[in-house]
Amino acid sequence: MSESAVPVPPSTVVLVSGGSRGLGLAIVTDLLDAGVKVAAFARTVTPDLAKLAEARPDRVHVDPVDVTDRAATQAFLRAAEERLGPVDGVVNNAAVGQDSLHVHTADADIARIVETNLTAPLQLTRLTVRRMLAQGRRGRIVNVTSICAQRGFPGLVAYSATKGGMDAATRSLARELGGRMLVNAVAPGFFASEMSAVLGPSQLDQIVRRTPTGHLTEPHEVVPVVRMLLRDQTNINGQVIVVDGAASI
Ligand SMILES: NC(=O)c1ccc[n+]([C@@H]2O[C@H](COP(=O)([O-])OP(=O)(O)OC[C@H]3O[C@@H](n4cnc5c(N)ncnc54)[C@H](OP(=O)(O)O)[C@@H]3O)[C@@H](O)[C@H]2O)c1
Repeated sequence: MSESAVPVPPSTVVLVSGGSRGLGLAIVTDLLDAGVKVAAFARTVTPDLAKLAEARPDRVHVDPVDVTDRAATQAFLRAAEERLGPVDGVVNNAAVGQDSLHVHTADADIARIVETNLTAPLQLTRLTVRRMLAQGRRGRIVNVTSICAQRGFPGLVAYSATKGGMDAATRSLARELGGRMLVNAVAPGFFASEMSAVLGPSQLDQIVRRTPTGHLTEPHEVVPVVRMLLRDQTNINGQVIVVDGAASI
C-alpha cells in the first residue's frame, strides 16, 4: 500500500491560531476535553485561555503572538513542540473582521485583512507542513473560513475575498499533499462573538429569518466538525463543510 493510501492518524498535538476567545477558545476547550494537547496563541492571552493553560500545564502551551509576525509564529511553534511534542494538526482560526463598504475601506485596512486572514494562515500552514514533511510525519489542517466566501454580504468584501482564498487553498493543498495530510475547511454561518458584534439587531434578525433551523450558528455546533476533521478516520479531504443551518441554501 502506498504511503498516501494509509489513513492519516488522528491529530494528537494541535496548534490553534486565535485561540483566546470566540470560536477559537471553544475549539481549544473541546480538544483538551478530547485528550488532545493544544498550542494556542492570539495577540492577547485572555484570562479564559490562561486559566486553561494553568489547569493543564503538561497539555497546553499558550503565548501572545501576532499571526502576521513570521518570526514570532516560528518561535511559538518551536517552543510548543519542545513542550508538547510534534504538532500534527493545525487550525487556522485567527482572523479579523470588517465592517465597511468597499468604497469606504482604506488601503491599510484591506492590507491588514488580507495579511491576517489569507497571507498569515498560508505561511503558518507552510511552516507546519514543512516541519511535518521534513520529519516524515503526517497531519491534518483545518481552515476556519466563512459562509461569506460563498454568499455575498455588504460590508465584508475584503473579508469575503480572504475566506474564498482560503477555501481555494484548501482544495489545492489537499491535492498537492497527495493524501499524506488531510486538508479541509469549516465555513460557519454567523455566530455571536466579538467579530460579529458589529452586526445590528435587524441584520441578525434577517439572518435568523433566512435560516431554516431558526437560530444563529453557535460555536458549540461548529466545534464537533473541527474535531471530527482532526480526529476521526474519514476520507474527507479538500472539502469546505458549511455549518449554517442551511441559511445559505
Ligand atoms: N463570528 C462570526 O459570525 C463568524 C462567521 C463565520 C466565520 N467566522 C470565522 O471564525 C473564526 C473565529 O471568529 P470569532 O468570531 O470567534 O472571532 P473573534 O471572537 O474576534 O476571535 C478572533 C481570534 O483571532 C485572534 N486574532 C485576530 N487577529 C490576530 C492576529 N493578528 N494574530 C493572532 N491572533 C489574532 C483574536 O485574538 P487577538 O485579537 O487578541 O489577537 C481572537 O483570538 C474566524 O476565522 C472568523 O473569520 C466567524
